[in-house]
Amino acid sequence: MKVLVTGGAGFIGSNFIFHMLRSYSNYRVVCLDLLTYAGNLTTLASLEKNPNFRFVKGDITNRELIFELFREEQFDFVVNFAAESHVDRSIENPGVFLTTNIIGTQILMDASKYYGVKRFHQVSTDEVYGDLPLNRPDLLFTEKTPIHTSSPYSASKAAADLLVQAYGRTYQLPITISRCSNNYGPYHFPEKLIPLIISRALNNSKVPVYGDGSNVRDWLYVEDHCKAIDIILHHGENGEVYNVGGNNEKSNLEVVKIILNELEKSESLIEFVKDRAGHDLRYAIDSTKIKNDLGWQPEELFETGIKKTIQWYLDNRKWWELIISGDYKQYYENMYQNK
Ligand code: NAD
Ligand code: DAU
Repeated sequence: MKVLVTGGAGFIGSNFIFHMLRSYSNYRVVCLDLLTYAGNLTTLASLEKNPNFRFVKGDITNRELIFELFREEQFDFVVNFAAESHVDRSIENPGVFLTTNIIGTQILMDASKYYGVKRFHQVSTDEVYGDLPLNRPDLLFTEKTPIHTSSPYSASKAAADLLVQAYGRTYQLPITISRCSNNYGPYHFPEKLIPLIISRALNNSKVPVYGDGSNVRDWLYVEDHCKAIDIILHHGENGEVYNVGGNNEKSNLEVVKIILNELEKSESLIEFVKDRAGHDLRYAIDSTKIKNDLGWQPEELFETGIKKTIQWYLDNRKWWELIISGDYKQYYENMYQNK
């Protein structure tokens, strides 16, 4: 099988590539990534000599490049992780979110249709469902919950989801969509809550908590998300949406305190800062469908997953220190200038 993974130099995409190459020794995996600020080729450095792996630097909105790559590789599966993914950035600069997340998805589907891929999988998010109230723990997002978005980021992901479903129905493109809750684990870019708190606390810097820290997220260890996508790709039904969640609801303040406690840092590092505009209150996923239909459920407990994650950031200080200093951007130039 030949698999195209877009956005594979980012957090979840890179973990997915490692998962696929570990799990299927006869698969060829091609990573297409623009290497925006969030894409980091040092993450994939260990695969440089792997004969089953190829890295291509490119933009999913570049129609010519995409069609040429599909012609050359004749992919069986396409898994689209490539996106602008940070809510705060979408509030500052929405335009690029619409271009990458919507138009990019359309161009990938046009190529998938033209070259007859066996499955186009869209990696979506629980944020397309908007948020849930804090005082109704009985309410969860199911696949039937109406789309109702809060940020330019989530609106762009929702628009892409609708387009993916439209391509499924109108052109019979074999599509699936997964809508996952908040991931955490290795290679998470240190602008997002968990790696931001770990990296700042390790440097004894203040850790910013938006509002009063009561907003709730449902945390899932990244490897569990990768396994879910793998199962959907191979066994999911064409045209279906699958929710993927961790059954692991925690307020932001709880998460921050757990991390500070693990690192033996004082809670006096916590700094309550101005809230995010339009801040979603609570996400909580009902994963019954993927459990019943495909047999997937989360394996990692938050208590063990967060310890593993913190240990990873302790063991891989160079990885995030290069990001914070900006030097990681040089890696591609250094490695690829003569290739
Ligand atoms: P990320 O920001 O870490 O990685 C995104 C990757 O996409 C980067 O490597 C970036 O260089 C690449 N990219 C951006 N624009 C591109 C373009 N125009 N062409 C090619 N590549 C481009 O994101 P992530 O957290 O790994 O999220 C991956 C996907 O999963 C996204 O679609 C996101 O919406 C979705 N998702 C994320 C989470 C989460 O908790 N992080 C949860 C559910 C769903
Ligand atoms: O739910 C899935 C989504 O999870 C993905 O679709 C997004 O791509 C991903 O970025 C993530 O979105 P969130 O906005 O939930 O993640 P973030 O890490 O930015 O923030 C998590 C919570 O922590 C949120 O309530 C905002 C809060 N926060 C965040 C930052 C960066 C803080 O309190 N302080 C911070 O400095």
